[in-house]
Amino acid sequence: MNIKFTTGKSISVLNKESIINALKRHEIYLIAACGGKGTCGKCRVKVLGGRYRTSKTGKISQADRNKGIVLACHTFPEEDISLEILEETRLVVGDKIALSKAKDLSELFRSLDGEISLIVKRLYLELPPPTIQDHIGDLERLRRELDLKGIKEMRFSHGFISSMADRMRSPNWKISLAYVGGPEAIFVADGKDSVRYGLAVDIGTTTIVVYIVDLSDGSLIDVGSTYNSQIRHGDDVITRIVHATEGRGLHELRDAVIEDINELIETIIEKHKINREMIETAVISGNTIMSHIFWGLSPQYIREEPYIPTVNFFPMWKAGTARLHINNQAPVYTLPCVASYVGGDIVSGVLASKMHRNHEIALFMDIGTNGEIAIGNNEWLMTAACSAGPCFEGSGIKHGMRATEGAIESVKIDRNTHEPELGVIGNSNPVGICGSGMIDAISEMFLKGIIDQKGKFVRELKTDRIREGEDGVEFVLYRGEKDIVLTEADIENILRAKAAIYAGVSMLIKEVGFTLDNIERVYIAGGFGNYLDVDKAIILGMLPDLPKERFRFLGNTSIAGAYLCLLSERLRKEAEEIAQKMTYMELSASRNFMDEYMSALFLPHTDIALFPTVEKLKNSG
Ligand code: FES
Repeated sequence: MNIKFTTGKSISVLNKESIINALKRHEIYLIAACGGKGTCGKCRVKVLGGRYRTSKTGKISQADRNKGIVLACHTFPEEDISLEILEETRLVVGDKIALSKAKDLSELFRSLDGEISLIVKRLYLELPPPTIQDHIGDLERLRRELDLKGIKEMRFSHGFISSMADRMRSPNWKISLAYVGGPEAIFVADGKDSVRYGLAVDIGTTTIVVYIVDLSDGSLIDVGSTYNSQIRHGDDVITRIVHATEGRGLHELRDAVIEDINELIETIIEKHKINREMIETAVISGNTIMSHIFWGLSPQYIREEPYIPTVNFFPMWKAGTARLHINNQAPVYTLPCVASYVGGDIVSGVLASKMHRNHEIALFMDIGTNGEIAIGNNEWLMTAACSAGPCFEGSGIKHGMRATEGAIESVKIDRNTHEPELGVIGNSNPVGICGSGMIDAISEMFLKGIIDQKGKFVRELKTDRIREGEDGVEFVLYRGEKDIVLTEADIENILRAKAAIYAGVSMLIKEVGFTLDNIERVYIAGGFGNYLDVDKAIILGMLPDLPKERFRFLGNTSIAGAYLCLLSERLRKEAEEIAQKMTYMELSASRNFMDEYMSALFLPHTDIALFPTVEKLKNSG
């Protein structure tokens, strides 16, 4: 049997095979937020002709069913069918690599430490070349030289020895021996060679970011980012864990993330003509599940009570083991995790915020797919996680995208005309909307009376910006070749995400016996690009209503932490101390969390007294 597309192309489909699996076999990926369980309703496709059996229809309206729209994960062709993949269902990840200028982190590094102490040490050696009389082996020659310098007990792996013969001869025995603590020799470089690079990686559930750094001074060579291709197996960490425990799932997830990282490395080194052998260290920062999958460890027990990861403090492994396309022998340091749902990305965040060094009580919020929170100071730290979903990173929103060129990042709406004024990254024509744009748009729509407290459009409003679209009622943000809209379903998604974050914050603050007044500083992290309007995020009810001067927006702190650990031994130690010190609170087990969440589903909250600033703004409007 075959599936024929409107483009004329066709692919085979096996007996009793679902449409989504047939497409996957041919490397065509759909948005499958629930990983094919039939519960998210995202994998919609339109069958234009041919007989099929479909087993789940709950997520499809009758009107759509009449048009032939079905869930690809629960539809099985019974003869040749012709198919249209709806634009919003198609998942394109590979071609979304973006190289961008990122915030210069060297200032942050200077403020925290400033002294570079790398994982890989170098030792310059001038070895006497072999002669007929002095004919010992290459390794013995190296050992003899190290002995003379008083360095005993250096270990040599097979990988090191197999590459040393040529590398010692080509610089005429004037070499630079690269080694790591232990000590263990890892490779031989040209003695004159001073170019050294490092790789910092943030593996987010939705987005992957890679920095290539010049290790001599910490300067940034370039940054690349892309969607995490694991999205094709599910949107959040739970669906990924489920997939990892099925058949070849773990391999598929691991291959996806490694390929993404390697593609980003490839793009950067090609652009800057960097020899991959010179990338001598990597540091990985990710949540506990992403870190496990990166190392090929099953995350199965993280999901089963009592929620135990295989590793929190990862040994130093090698790039060859990880299959990273850099120097095979390069050590790979993984930021330590705290617990099942609080990982190295949050340890990175706390490190970059410096809250663990100060006496003031601070709240740290990482607004990503998982939404982790930490509270504390230089004496204590407490942390929790609340699944926010990937919408602020653009996934699951009709015209959502990451904070890259072409993304609407700010929105103002005229109270009388309801016409929006848009700020777009790169000042180009907009192609989508990123997290900060969504926060702006919804809070503006709420303040200007376009949506009500539940996030529903006020239908009687006289504006042609509100219209009935393919996916229900929507607001047109931009009219162009392709209109950019925000639908009621998008708004619902965003409200769910912000409610989870706010509920998490409320619970954690109560747990430590504090009120909002005790919070002297709030650090916000997340992939919002360079912009997040705190006032608007308060109107949305995502951030607590505190004086604006208490907030600091830090950007992507997961990559910042990886960068810091790449450069400094002291900061690696500090990261480990943070992970040791943090107490983890499990929110999912708590009934109060559900109550807090339900109350936070409104704009800004069912209890408006918690948001006096917003109340004042609404009344003054
Ligand atoms: S409903 Fe099909 S992937 Fe979620």
